[in-house]
Amino acid sequence: MRRVLYPGSFDPIHLGHVEIIETASHLFDDIVVAATVNPQKGTPKTGGGLFDLDERVEIITEVCAHLDNVTVTQFSGLVVDLARQVNADFILKGLRAVSDYETELQMAQMNHALSGIHTVFIPSASTRSFLASKLIREVTQLGGDVSTMVPEPVQRRLKSSLS
Ligand code: PNS
Repeated sequence: MRRVLYPGSFDPIHLGHVEIIETASHLFDDIVVAATVNPQKGTPKTGGGLFDLDERVEIITEVCAHLDNVTVTQFSGLVVDLARQVNADFILKGLRAVSDYETELQMAQMNHALSGIHTVFIPSASTRSFLASKLIREVTQLGGDVSTMVPEPVQRRLKSSLS
């Protein structure tokens, strides 16, 4: 049984994330998607965030309902502590561009040094590689239309928060 942990802020989850989760659901027996607050990014409390952690878990759960080997949780603290807690064999990250690789490699090496757990990378399809939650938040907050970039449960909540 190969279990992989896919951590992220997911504020909001977008179609690039969904693609990574769907690909991973074919590659691994079990995927744990875990949302956390990244202090380097905006949160509803510090400003700039869209959804709180409970809402993100609810949204991701809806989005992944068609994948029976995916579970969704939230965490605070170190990703390696959660990885050990849920018995993950690997940590999973998506890669959009070379610039992602530099940061992700450093995190992968730190996480490996802390826990011995390797990170596996899945590259995003080129048509999705421009998607980033930070840009989705900015475009949304400035009145732009992101409906082709986010799954329906996110679209629905964004629409109802505007009306
Ligand atoms: O979606 P994001 O914001 O790019 O995800 C970043 C995340 C949440 C994966 C990263 O910030 C993280 O791992 N946070 C947990 C705290 C931690 O373990 N920090 C050490 C990383 S080497």
